Amino acid sequence: MKIFSNKKMLIKYIQKEKKIGFVPTMGALHLAHKTLIKKSKIQCNKTVVSIFVNKPQFNRKKDFNKYPRNISRDISILRKLKVDYLFIPKTKEIYPNGVNKNIKIHPFGKKLCGKFRPGHFIAVIDVVDRFLKIIKPSKIYFGKKDFQQLKIIEDFIKRKYKNIKVIGCKTIREKNGIALSSRNYLLSLKQKKIASKVYKLLKNKKLLIKNKNKLSQIKKNIYNLGVKKIDYLKILDTNKIIKPYKKIKKYRVFIAYYLGKTRLIDNI
Ligand code: PAJ
Repeated sequence: MKIFSNKKMLIKYIQKEKKIGFVPTMGALHLAHKTLIKKSKIQCNKTVVSIFVNKPQFNRKKDFNKYPRNISRDISILRKLKVDYLFIPKTKEIYPNGVNKNIKIHPFGKKLCGKFRPGHFIAVIDVVDRFLKIIKPSKIYFGKKDFQQLKIIEDFIKRKYKNIKVIGCKTIREKNGIALSSRNYLLSLKQKKIASKVYKLLKNKKLLIKNKNKLSQIKKNIYNLGVKKIDYLKILDTNKIIKPYKKIKKYRVFIAYYLGKTRLIDNI
C-alpha cells in the first residue's frame, strides 16, 4: 500500500489507472469501512481510501476535536486489506484557498440532519468534490447508515460527474443492533446498551408505519431509556425524496439523538 499526503504525488501515481474505486473516510476505521473497501476491491482495478477529518463539516469545534483518531491502527487495517493507495492529506492540501460555500445541494439537504447541522452537507459535498477532482474514480462508495448524505451525494454526482457511479452499501450493525460508527468509540458500555435498546424500539418499523401516532409514544420510550435529547425521529417515504419519484411507497425511520455529548444517527 502506498501512502500519500501530497495530492500531486498521488495524482502522479494514479493518473494512468483505469477503474479506480474510491472510499472516502474520516478514519477511526471499523468493520463497515472495511466492507466498503472490500466491495471496491472486488469491483475495481485499484482502490484508493482517504482519511481526512473534514473540519468544515463539524458544527462545533469540540465535536471536531473529540472525533476519534487512530491513524496507526487505521494504516495497519488498510495494509491487511491490501488497499492500493491511502491518501491522508493535510488541510492545506485540500483547502489551499479556503472552503467553497456556494455549492448548490438538493433541497433534501435542508431536512433531518440539515435542520440541526446548518452547512454540514454543503461542507461534505465540498470535500467530496475536491477528492473527486484529485482521484477521478469510476466508482465511489458510501454507506446507507448515512442515508441522507448518500442521497445528497448521489444527486450531486449525477448532475456534475456523469462518469462516476455511486455505490450505496447496506448498513453494518453490531450483534446488538447498533449501527457501526466511529463515534461509537466515544460511548460507554452503559450508553451502548441504551443505543441497542433504541434500535430495538425502531426495528419493528412496520408497526410504526401503520400507526404514525406511535412515533410520539416511541419518543417517550426513548427518553425513558435515559436519552437526553432527540433531534428528530421521522418516517419518510424514500421513494419521494429525489426525483424521479416512484409510486410504490418505501418507508424508512430516521433518528438522530444524543447519548451524553455524542450524537448518533440511524435509519431503518
Ligand atoms: P465516515 O463517517 O468515516 O464514513 C465513511 C463511510 O463509511 C461513509 O460512506 C459512511 O456512510 C460509511 N459508514 C459508516 N458507518 C457505516 C455503517 N455502520 N454501515 C455502512 N456504512 C457505514 O461519512 C463520512 O465519513 C464523511 O462524511 C465523508 C463522506 C468521508 C466526508 O468527509
